[in-house]
Amino acid sequence: MCGIVGYVGSKNGIEAVFNGLIRLEYRGYDSVGVAFKDKNKIKTVKSHGRIKKNDVVPGMPNLEEKLKEDEKFKFNSNIVIGHTRWATHGAPSEKNAHPHVSMKGNFAIVHNGIIENYLTLKNELINKGYKFESETDSEVLAHLIEYFYENDILSAVKKALTKLEGAYSFLVLSEAEDVIVGAKKGSPLCLGLGEKEFIISSDESPFIDRTKKVIYINDGELILIEKNKYNIINFEGLNVEREIEEVPYDLEAITKGGYDHFMLKEIHEQPTTIKNAFISRIDHLDTMLRDNFPKLPRNINRVIYLACGTSLCAGKVGMYITEKYAKIPSRAEYASEFIYRDPVIFEKDICIALSQSGETADTKEALKIVKEKNAYIAGLVNVVGSQIARIAGKGMYLHAGPEIGVASTKAFTSQVVAINMFNMLLIDDIKYREKLIDELKKLPDLAEQIIRGTEPKIKVIAPEISKFSDFLYLGRDINYPVALEGALKMKEIAYLHAEGYSSGEMKHGPIALIDKNLLTVCILTGEKEIYKKTLNNLLEIKARSGRVFVLTDDVQAIKDHLSDEDYIIEVPKTLPQLSPIINVIPLQLLAYYTAKHLKREIDKPRNLAKSVTVE
Ligand code: AGP
Ligand code: GLU
Repeated sequence: MCGIVGYVGSKNGIEAVFNGLIRLEYRGYDSVGVAFKDKNKIKTVKSHGRIKKNDVVPGMPNLEEKLKEDEKFKFNSNIVIGHTRWATHGAPSEKNAHPHVSMKGNFAIVHNGIIENYLTLKNELINKGYKFESETDSEVLAHLIEYFYENDILSAVKKALTKLEGAYSFLVLSEAEDVIVGAKKGSPLCLGLGEKEFIISSDESPFIDRTKKVIYINDGELILIEKNKYNIINFEGLNVEREIEEVPYDLEAITKGGYDHFMLKEIHEQPTTIKNAFISRIDHLDTMLRDNFPKLPRNINRVIYLACGTSLCAGKVGMYITEKYAKIPSRAEYASEFIYRDPVIFEKDICIALSQSGETADTKEALKIVKEKNAYIAGLVNVVGSQIARIAGKGMYLHAGPEIGVASTKAFTSQVVAINMFNMLLIDDIKYREKLIDELKKLPDLAEQIIRGTEPKIKVIAPEISKFSDFLYLGRDINYPVALEGALKMKEIAYLHAEGYSSGEMKHGPIALIDKNLLTVCILTGEKEIYKKTLNNLLEIKARSGRVFVLTDDVQAIKDHLSDEDYIIEVPKTLPQLSPIINVIPLQLLAYYTAKHLKREIDKPRNLAKSVTVE
């Protein structure tokens, strides 16, 4: 959600920031802008459109065109800041796009996050004679810094910080000094150390092709970047020594590699990413226990999974596994609900935060709460070094590589692998472990098989599927969360109404919806009893002339109940606790090809952001 890039160096800063913003597009944005120094004056160029010229939104000039419109524009500034905005305060528009400039034009800022007390600050500044151009919370920052400025940008920013409440990272450009100042409290910020240049940004993607040397800025820290040096200090003004780390992936990992969309590439990566999640750990469970989950308590009270969106669907799978196989009470909670209900937490509770990005504000806050309450905490996170990973301090990285498509795919399957691995540590039963390990090892091939087997069929039926206006996704037991996730994918990228329901609950209400415009997607796999009961639910739909799309590991048992108007997809058999990994893949493909047929913006669906860094 929102991206920040800043450049200080001896090369073409506008080009670096422009390309950096393109790399940050995947986070989701509604408007974009840059600020740079042009003959010692701050100049901004903003657009309520896309970044690139060939990425056309009718009626909205893109940033590239607007930059080139300016005849004097020479692409030659070497101190530049840029921003992709995901509006929280004030509608998406050119006026509200960042950078925001202070009243006298001396400072420009880009900000990610929310200044929670902005109204109070705005009124104070208005009383002091400041005029506001936008409806954003962020603009107060520019004026506040100008108000406190007495020939030293760093002191002015420090004073402004004492006034701010909320979560943010921001960059400031000053007309009088050749520096960028950055500050972080909540939203991500890291510094790439290149050859005679520094690039500061929300993640490593803007500089990955220029340098792999990175410093992650922590909450409560400020950075002053000059042409040949940088200095990190904390909000109290003390110098901070920070280790230089290496970015753990390559440029290739963040390009499409011949696929039409990142989402499709990421679906196809799953045989590999599933393997990456377990391969180095599977034969060393004792090491995993010691290194990844040190001091895991015995006599565990409950296991609570905390997450949002797709990660929560994985957490719900975890809840079924923990209760059914580890025999420990378990819950999976919307992090956003959890944080506001003063949850009762015991010391012997284990709280697992699940997150692809590691930046989701709600999940982060939930984790902080359980940490304060002294529960045992851990994270199952994809992005290495992200905030949730750092707060958790232990847990497992998914090693799925960068996930760029806004709709999460490979992170889900890796999370379910990681959940199974974690639960193995709770289940002290050699036979259980051996069986699960055997089946886990077969999973990458099964994933390959399911992609190869189902993709051509789904491609062909997608035009018919896209004619339905509503979808009901049904699953039972451990595949109920897969129904939720399948429906979420359809909503997110095809913009079609889809509801996930537990199949047994269907007759308590949604059955009233059954008609020719609604397609029921039914997950019919697994243990005999569960299969039988879900089949009954499916027959209830057929008895009402409903149309169905069935995912099953037993085609024979269902074939005779279906008509030519129905769809059937065969999935391979595996253990129930691994079945969500296999079953979700055709549902990802179904959403993808339906969205593609409907010509949706698959990798950057409207209104969505990849990492939701506001609550
Ligand atoms: C996934 O398709 C969604 N875009 C969204 O629900 C996402 O899973 C959610 O915002 C949580 O993100 P996280 O895994 O990065 O914490
Ligand atoms: N709250 C700010 C705004 O609405 C910043 C949002 C963002 O992080 O993009 O402009």
